[in-house]
Amino acid sequence: MRREIVVVEDLYKYFNVVKAGKRRVLKAVDGVSFKLRRGEILGLVGESGSGKTTVGRLVTRLLKPTRGRILFDGIDIAEMPEKRLRPLRRRFQMVFQDPYASLNPRMPIGKAIAEPLVVHGLAGWEEAKRRALELLEKVGLTPAEDFYNRLPSQLSGGQRQRAVIARAVILEPDFIVADEPVSMVDVSMRASILDLLVKLRRELGTAMLFITHDLAVAKMISDRIAVMYVGKIVEEAPSDELVAHPMHPYTRALITSVPSIAWRNRRRFPIKGDIADPTSLPMGCRYHPRCPLARDKCRREEPALAEARPGHLVACHYPVGEPLKPLR
Ligand SMILES: Nc1ncnc2c1ncn2[C@@H]1O[C@H](COP(=O)(O)OP(=O)(O)OP(=O)(O)O)[C@@H](O)[C@H]1O
Ligand SMILES: [Mg+2]
Repeated sequence: MRREIVVVEDLYKYFNVVKAGKRRVLKAVDGVSFKLRRGEILGLVGESGSGKTTVGRLVTRLLKPTRGRILFDGIDIAEMPEKRLRPLRRRFQMVFQDPYASLNPRMPIGKAIAEPLVVHGLAGWEEAKRRALELLEKVGLTPAEDFYNRLPSQLSGGQRQRAVIARAVILEPDFIVADEPVSMVDVSMRASILDLLVKLRRELGTAMLFITHDLAVAKMISDRIAVMYVGKIVEEAPSDELVAHPMHPYTRALITSVPSIAWRNRRRFPIKGDIADPTSLPMGCRYHPRCPLARDKCRREEPALAEARPGHLVACHYPVGEPLKPLR
């Protein structure tokens, strides 16, 4: 069995847009590479507009890339026509931010969870219902018989997100993209939904690309974290390493601004100004206009993502050397 379930190589997605009456090219994803092992959770973090959702939609082939390779279990699906993709689709699923929009308001949630099994011809309704009841139990919507017949409107936001997760896992996919799955869920429910995802990963061995703008959430759930800045991954490392020793000034700024992760002698790397415009990216390093450490080279040359410490990749000409110091 292949160790890596998803391998993304040099992935691009450019959109043609019209801005102030002019045609422009918007570089939403601008050369992204990463790997996911079976059962591994990779957190993808970055500000709004950095291209996280676009990456998620590309790897689940809800969008076609401009170029690049997407190897799913060794098969390149980047250019694959829909007809050939269909049998593979049940092996990768996407969970969206808004659980309400992902459910048909007129379909009882039990049926919605069972449906993929029937649609993919893997079970009849009776068997599918039995499996859906088991899953309702597993995701904590109990008594399952009662929840089976409820409409989405009869569930709380957190319960709806559990139902959406149940529907995504009923086909026992190898890979799930979870796009901000807790951002619309009540704060009190978030931890239990993250626990549920971790439990499912453990029981089913599902690999996950976990998209969030919240570094504290990413740290809670991910084995590794990749930080994205306008279309590019600027840093990637095991979660604990990334949080304790962020080397990119952008990652430093993101981490030291998270109140729940406290640091002694926290040295701030304030981010100046707004996120770069993906229709007119700056020369050199795309972060340089906001970077307090930028020098001449940063204005001229784009840094490549390279290994700076074992397993720790960073795209910066002058990565920060010293780790952050914890409070205790
Ligand atoms: N279909 C599209 N057509 C044109 N531009 C698009 C399209 N989809 C996304 N974009 C642009 O691509 C860039 C990246 O968007 P994306 O939704 O991937 O960001 P994100 O990191 O998920 O942001 P957020 O945290 O707000 O969800 C943005 O500038 C966005 O406006
Ligand atoms: Mg998004």
